[in-house]
Amino acid sequence: MPKVRDQGNQYSQYSDLNRNTSGSSLFADQTSLPELRRSLLQWYQQQGRDLPWRTTRDPYKIWVSEVMLQQTQVKTVIPYYQRWVEQFPTIKSLAQADQQTILKAWQGLGYYARARNLHRSAQIVADQRDGMFPQTLDEAIALPGIGRTTAGGILSAAFNQSTAILDGNVKRVLARLTALSMPPNRAQPELWKISERLLDVHHPRDFNQALMDLGATVCTPKSPQCTACPWTVHCRAYATHLQHQIPMTESRSELPHKQIGVAVIWDGDGLVLIDRRKPEGLLGGLWEFPGGKIEPNESVEDCIRREIKEELDIEVSVGDRLITIEHTYSHFRVTLNVHHCQYVSGEPQPLECDEIKWVSMDEIHTYPFPKANEKIIAALEEYQRTTSS
Ligand code: ADE
Repeated sequence: MPKVRDQGNQYSQYSDLNRNTSGSSLFADQTSLPELRRSLLQWYQQQGRDLPWRTTRDPYKIWVSEVMLQQTQVKTVIPYYQRWVEQFPTIKSLAQADQQTILKAWQGLGYYARARNLHRSAQIVADQRDGMFPQTLDEAIALPGIGRTTAGGILSAAFNQSTAILDGNVKRVLARLTALSMPPNRAQPELWKISERLLDVHHPRDFNQALMDLGATVCTPKSPQCTACPWTVHCRAYATHLQHQIPMTESRSELPHKQIGVAVIWDGDGLVLIDRRKPEGLLGGLWEFPGGKIEPNESVEDCIRREIKEELDIEVSVGDRLITIEHTYSHFRVTLNVHHCQYVSGEPQPLECDEIKWVSMDEIHTYPFPKANEKIIAALEEYQRTTSS
């Protein structure tokens, strides 16, 4: 992918976004729009995917699927979606559940703000609308965690409303179709207009689903299957052999990297100490093993002793390393340096978290943990297996 630098004013072809090579506007050519719609819908009838949220018209279930699909792939989402709608079959049941139960059901999907927002929004819809999902774009977008594309996806799928979508897959399809000469995120208003103009107002539900499927299965990021695409004859990227160069990407600077010291604190009776993060922010409401950032020139052991004193007001002795875990979040990378620790003295206080608990290895699975902490639990189980035999 060609990289572009983060500067303005280098996109001389910007105004060409909506024009074809002869200078006329692609979508002003009214004959191509019906043909684009017809060919996509025909392709969808033959090649569209059979996905569990497509057999329902229940806006709540479609909402759940759209939120799960915001940052997660279809194949990962399917089992989570199925368990979720069993466990929380209605907006009211979700609204009444406690946050820990919800976070546990979400565990492994990542981006936990999605689950917290879904919960808050369900409470708003239960309290203010008697559990009925809104049917207008503005009201849907007003709910936490629902942006324009999610709202468009829900309203078109549930009510067959003519609401456009523009998720990552759709941006790629439209960028190629129009040979967009800049990264899609720099042409959002134009891409929204194109998505709106393309939308088949007689079949908005199927049209949007088809567009998503085209992006996910044919117009893929790395190896687009142009020979299987219903839009090859209309596609400007294909016509100019630029399908591998488009969409253009922003050059990304390296993610910041943090070294973290993490403590598995044993009480001497087989219990370990875990803490619950404050409700908002990254991984809010989830449980973790306590620890913190290693300062420059600090050893892992010194960091752990310091952090545990600062966060929990107790003394520990730091023992052997259990495991080192690398994990990448959206905006930074971490290395977790995890050590066994022995509790020494003091009464643990939740100074920088919401709650702390001594738990046994049997019950630890009932608490929602982020993925990297799940790996610590797996390492602990392995450690116990190998040391008890
Ligand atoms: N991504 C977002 N919404 C989707 C849907 N309804 N089907 C498949 N992938 C999606």
